[in-house]
Amino acid sequence: MNTSLILSIESSCDETSVALVKDGKTLLSNVVSSQIESHKRFGGVVPEVASRHHVERITYVIDDALSEAGVTMEDVDAVAVTQGPGLVGALLVGISAAKALAFAHQKPLIGVHHIAGHIYANELVEEMQFPLVCLVVSGGHTELVYMPEHGVFEVIGETRDDAAGEAYDKVARTLSLPYPGGPAIDRLAAVGEDTYNFPRVRLEPGSFDFSFSGLKSSVINAVHNAEQRGETVIPENLAASFQASVVEVLVEKAIRAVKEKGAKQLLVAGGVAANRGLRAALQEAATAEGIQLVIPPLDLCGDNAGMIGVAAHHAYVRGKRDTLAMNAVPGLSLEESMTV
Ligand code: KG4
Ligand code: ZN
Repeated sequence: MNTSLILSIESSCDETSVALVKDGKTLLSNVVSSQIESHKRFGGVVPEVASRHHVERITYVIDDALSEAGVTMEDVDAVAVTQGPGLVGALLVGISAAKALAFAHQKPLIGVHHIAGHIYANELVEEMQFPLVCLVVSGGHTELVYMPEHGVFEVIGETRDDAAGEAYDKVARTLSLPYPGGPAIDRLAAVGEDTYNFPRVRLEPGSFDFSFSGLKSSVINAVHNAEQRGETVIPENLAASFQASVVEVLVEKAIRAVKEKGAKQLLVAGGVAANRGLRAALQEAATAEGIQLVIPPLDLCGDNAGMIGVAAHHAYVRGKRDTLAMNAVPGLSLEESMTV
């Protein structure tokens, strides 16, 4: 029973996405309808606006994903959906659609943890070799996750305040850059230099936890101090300095986790995995240490239903099934999420 055709839905934040995934390996389709343009003028995701967009788009995106894959609901073995974490109203749209499809076509329903999805995007690049360590860097999460086998997640380090993506977005706002800030900072950093030498926050020796709020404050202070002195900041250098601090700590802790845990692979997951500076620094460190590094291609780093379908496949073959009573869980725990 290792074969499957899964229709998966992702609607936890500002992308409405539906995919058809074959055997947890092949994306027959992965349609992503982004709302970024609608949220830009507010400088961030407005939950109510996100929910409304999901409602407007979801049925079209389901139809597009099925027709692009060239399959019908009759061919589908199971319907998977992001159960959490995320914005409750946004999650509920995807979950309601998934339940309706599962009920109408009498298919099993499988709830998936959003971060498990991000991690499983790596399976589309390279088969997972256990044990492994995954560096998760998204808008809401910054974690080091140890996986001894499929479906088992042990969070060995996490942020004590802001997530990496959140810090990127806040620093971008300070520099009056458009939402989402990560890609904008990434572009500026590529042509700037680390002239500010912001602190590298490592916390207690041996800790795999992270903290980015102090760094964020340092950047904001640097901008305000310059303004008060009537000086102009060089955004490229500020971006490069901020990024250098974030990347150095992420890389250092991820490599140390791989070594301490005797992991066979280092995976990277989440929206910030698209960051060019982070990708280059991880590749350099992994090569120097002889570690196998796996990073999803850019289009699979951000939110998409394909990654949810891949994670769902592994839950499906292990027998995970949810009932139509399944609810959105905005604070869903990763460690308990794939329990059958
Ligand atoms: O995983 P994701 O798409 O959504 C969540 O699950 O949170 O991550 C979104 C985050 C945003 O904070 C965005 O600014 C950041 O990923 N991001 C980046 C880059 N592309 C997206 N951060 C740094 N560099 C990038 N190139
Ligand atoms: Zn995400």
